[in-house]
Amino acid sequence: MGRPTDPLPVVVHAPEAFRAACDQARAQGRRVALVPTMGALHHGHIALMTEARRRVGPDGLVAVSVFVNPTQFGPNEDLARYPRELDADVARCAAAGVDAVFAPSAGAMYPPGDQTRVRVAELAGPMCGLTRPTHFEGVATVVTRLFALAGPCVAVFGRKDYQQLRVISRLARDLFLPVEVVGLGTVREPDGLALSSRNRYLSPLDRARATAIPASLRAARALYARGERSVIALLDVVSQGLAGSVDSVDYIDLRDADELTLPATPLPDGARAVLAVAVKIGATRLIDNTVLGEPDGTLR
Ligand code: PAJ
Repeated sequence: MGRPTDPLPVVVHAPEAFRAACDQARAQGRRVALVPTMGALHHGHIALMTEARRRVGPDGLVAVSVFVNPTQFGPNEDLARYPRELDADVARCAAAGVDAVFAPSAGAMYPPGDQTRVRVAELAGPMCGLTRPTHFEGVATVVTRLFALAGPCVAVFGRKDYQQLRVISRLARDLFLPVEVVGLGTVREPDGLALSSRNRYLSPLDRARATAIPASLRAARALYARGERSVIALLDVVSQGLAGSVDSVDYIDLRDADELTLPATPLPDGARAVLAVAVKIGATRLIDNTVLGEPDGTLR
């Protein structure tokens, strides 16, 4: 974590100031990398910052946005209680060697009269889209705005939010945005639970129950490794692994890893399919996934 000697990143709140900082860096020949976050930063976020630095080199500008984006929260979701701790986040960014932190207000990102939204149609439909019908429109809109302000050549996201990563990759492609969207593997606790800003909502007992999530994905990977290709059988083993530990299941789904369409069953040779879950433990909603048909060094 932070040492007293870590140089503080520049912290800007106004969109115009953020754009100016990125423009200035580019004018000096520096490459700009962006890591969008909602703050309450943990080691999963830090891994994205490290990757961003690796991509643009020591002379590049690594920018992190910290913005709890209201348009991606549904009416009964946790917008109001989502953790906000900018000072601590700036210190974490300093320790990670970040150059600039962009922390706008909601009114600055969505000024009066704002009426434009970005919608990625099909990719946003299944999985989290079923229970969060406006979520990905909010994500796509804010990320497009952040791209427009920063003009990054590279932006780094986590594969923990797999559907989000697919949505953002697709909007960058469809809108011809000159940005490389990079997806990084999920950073996990030693017992396998994916790091998440929402894990802090879990009581100790609920935290213990949450280990069923990575355990159930591991069980499915093991079954797949033994040759099982039936979609039902692979979904079943996850369902059994979660039963008794979680309070409810939003979805357990197995989909084509790129298009998020339903795959053939049995899974064809060479298919890559994302096995994704969303569950509630107490009032906390947690998601996780693994891609069958490719190595997953994060789930052992
Ligand atoms: P947030 O949940 O703060 O996550 C910011 C980034 O960190 C996302 O790309 C997410 O996938 C990544 N991340 C979170 N947990 C991770 C983990 N355990 N390992 C690796 N990466 C992890 O996702 C959002 O914010 C927002 O939707 C945002 C993209 C910022 C738009 O508002």
